[in-house]
Amino acid sequence: MEIRNVCVVGCGLMGRQIGMNAAVCGYTVKLQDSFEKARENAITWAEEYLAGRLAKGRMTEEQVADIKSRFAVCESLEEAAKDADLVIEAIIEVEDAKAELFKKLSTIVREDTILTTNSSFMVSSTFAHCVSNPGRLANMHYFNPALVMKLVEIVQGDHTSPETGAVLMEYCRNTGKTPVLMKKELEGFVADTIVKAIVEAAFFLVEKGYCTVEDVDIACQNGLGHKMGPFKTMDLTGVDLAYTIREEHLKKTGEKMIGYDLLKTLYDQGRYGMKSGKGFYDYE
Ligand SMILES: NC(=O)c1ccc[n+]([C@@H]2O[C@H](COP(=O)([O-])OP(=O)(O)OC[C@H]3O[C@@H](n4cnc5c(N)ncnc54)[C@H](O)[C@@H]3O)[C@@H](O)[C@H]2O)c1
Repeated sequence: MEIRNVCVVGCGLMGRQIGMNAAVCGYTVKLQDSFEKARENAITWAEEYLAGRLAKGRMTEEQVADIKSRFAVCESLEEAAKDADLVIEAIIEVEDAKAELFKKLSTIVREDTILTTNSSFMVSSTFAHCVSNPGRLANMHYFNPALVMKLVEIVQGDHTSPETGAVLMEYCRNTGKTPVLMKKELEGFVADTIVKAIVEAAFFLVEKGYCTVEDVDIACQNGLGHKMGPFKTMDLTGVDLAYTIREEHLKKTGEKMIGYDLLKTLYDQGRYGMKSGKGFYDYE
């Protein structure tokens, strides 16, 4: 099947860039968001983005006019999705909200319209019961910022037809991305599974006293060629976030994830990372 019309639901950080990426690559794109303010922000953001490309000489006036003619932000889901060949869901990371959306989408789109979720953690089988013909349902996980980052993870569940995976891989390549295909579902997909293993190894080395936080980051940067070591990265994304995830896990399972004690010590001292001036490192 050929993709021409793309609908992106959710105009936030991810959705607007996923939509713009498709429009820049020649697709007709309709974005939708249930919040008026989010729709307004997406329109302003798109205007500014295209004006910036024009000012920098990266696009001509004709190109900008062409993209604008194929890029729209819609108020109603019906209007945005009814002609879509591909829908990319990029709304808040709340299971009930996504499930409700897929149920609605299933009543609007054609039976062969491919339905995808950009969820960071939820596998698409979570929503298989919400749609008719679940063979067309898969994960399509972009990275932030979606206009820049090349990787897209396509994840097929047992319910997903191989044709759906193949069409999505081709769509990604046609939009300048470098996709990977997972033939089985796994929470965390490919990249986050690798990151998780690195973070676990990093905490192991420090907690067992083999080396310091600094040494781990130096090794990752200078030996493995990573842009940033795992502890500096946690300072950037928030020590509080890393701690909260572990605290939630402890409450749910009674099990302490590796890194819990070290993160709790920092958290209790208000060392949340770069945003608070101190984390694993001192930024003051
Ligand atoms: N932020 C990231 O780095 C990142 C990276 C990869 C994947 N994701 C995933 O992408 C999705 C969106 O994340 P984001 O960072 O863009 O969030 P965001 O909060 O910036 O945007 C979400 C948007 O969805 C809208 N929305 C909420 N409920 C809706 C509904 N029922 N119908 C239509 N619109 C609705 C909100 O108004 C908001 O504009 C999440 O599933 C997230 O896990 C995020």
